[in-house]
Amino acid sequence: MALTLAVRDGDAADVNTPLLGILLQAGTDLPGELRTLDERLGGSLVRSLARGDFRGARDETLHLDGGSSKAGRVLLVGLGAPTEPAAAALRRGAALLARQGHRMGVGALAVLAPRADAESVEAVAIGLNMGAWEYIDLKTPPPEAERKKPLTRATILAEGSRESRDALGRGEGIAAGYEVARRLAQMPGNLCTPDVLAKTATDIGRRHKLKVTVLGRREMERQKMGSFLCVAQATPQDPKLVTMEYRRGKRGDAPVVLVGKGLCFDTGGISIKPADRMELMKFDMCGAAGVLGAMEAIARLKLKVNVVGMFGATTNMPSGTAVKPGDVVISHLGKSIEIINTDAEGRLVLADLLSYARRFKPAAVIDAATLTGACVVALGHVATGVLGTDQDLVDEVVAAAKRAAEPGWQLPLWDDYKELIKSDVADIKNSGGRAGGAITAAMFLKEFAEEYPWVHLDIAGTAYSESDLVAIPRGPTGVPTGTFIEFVRARAG
Ligand code: BES
Ligand code: MN
Ligand code: ZN
Repeated sequence: MALTLAVRDGDAADVNTPLLGILLQAGTDLPGELRTLDERLGGSLVRSLARGDFRGARDETLHLDGGSSKAGRVLLVGLGAPTEPAAAALRRGAALLARQGHRMGVGALAVLAPRADAESVEAVAIGLNMGAWEYIDLKTPPPEAERKKPLTRATILAEGSRESRDALGRGEGIAAGYEVARRLAQMPGNLCTPDVLAKTATDIGRRHKLKVTVLGRREMERQKMGSFLCVAQATPQDPKLVTMEYRRGKRGDAPVVLVGKGLCFDTGGISIKPADRMELMKFDMCGAAGVLGAMEAIARLKLKVNVVGMFGATTNMPSGTAVKPGDVVISHLGKSIEIINTDAEGRLVLADLLSYARRFKPAAVIDAATLTGACVVALGHVATGVLGTDQDLVDEVVAAAKRAAEPGWQLPLWDDYKELIKSDVADIKNSGGRAGGAITAAMFLKEFAEEYPWVHLDIAGTAYSESDLVAIPRGPTGVPTGTFIEFVRARAG
């Protein structure tokens, strides 16, 4: 259920709320503004800090009764040592608070952050929404008596100024983007089809007046997209290539192009994957989900910039008509590709998207894809792999990712790796084997992205989590939505 947010000022001791969350950094004394509240709690805030019951470590919480204050309960939430920028820690703390509040069934909460400036309000708004998020569409609701109140309202304690309200609006816009992306990602493969992704794009386009174009199999055949189409040749579902043009920048300014891998399910095809955990391959469309989420947020924020969102949606299936190892296809760019492994399908889809992107004469192209298991081996579930042809653009993307609390780490794209994807019969082959798999995959993409500055994000390890992450439950994390938004926002100035 959607979370309704508000900002209001006043003493924390006077806020009438079932749950008051207080976000505190490590090593800080009780903020002066909490003195009255502490008195109403019989001094338990000061004593808890003095005894070390609560130290403000990251993700640490302490639950207190509200005493004679107007808060039913007080939850202290640790932010860890102060960081720059503070936004990432605030988002995390606020998400943890909202999750706890949602679990308690309090229905509403209020939150006080260490600083009440606009940046903090925005970060807290995003975090609260992230923490309250869940996907329950497919679950039968529990009987009335056992039902807990969902968290539907939250108040951020900050100056009720114009700046605060604008920041709240921005936070809500960004949160709406994450919501779009996480919902699509969590939807099962039989519900989140290429058609549904395309419809989501046209819906966003209609609401925000973007020009949305959808190419199906026929149109892609006309475009000679032999690389994308060979992945889609075993599925009866119509594959979709979607472009979404948002133009609020200067007329004639070259756009940023965001590209996403949208494999609604990846079985591996003829090079079929093992059954164990194959269900996770419904998340193989998180790049496309990130593009859709980012476009939603960019439009809500009315950023003055030209952006084209683009994704390729299909499923990778085995069948009598499927592409086989050893087959050679001709890509949209004209380069021939030998298929070594049909499970290396993401790069085949992206190759034609990156080639198609040239028509927009991009200032920069950033693609995001759950591309390789090798990237998960290299960087785990913490950092997104970042590879690109333009170091300034790589630095810009890494900085954006950091602001979005979606850290990225650069891997090299050296020519030495190209040896591994040379084919005996075609211009290039689609798999370079196990060694350096995240890099050889990006080297393959680079062959199709030579006419503009380009960065590739391998989000295989970061787009979803297989374990509960304290602030974020098991499932889609929202990556790369925030990275896209922060990048575009900085470009908009
Ligand atoms: N979608 C997978 C990559 C993946 C693996 C994403 C694990 C998330 C978690 C991709 O299409 C794939 O199968 N890649 C192969 C490439 C290989 C055959 C060269 C892989 O990583 O094993
Ligand atoms: Mn695959
Ligand atoms: Zn895949």
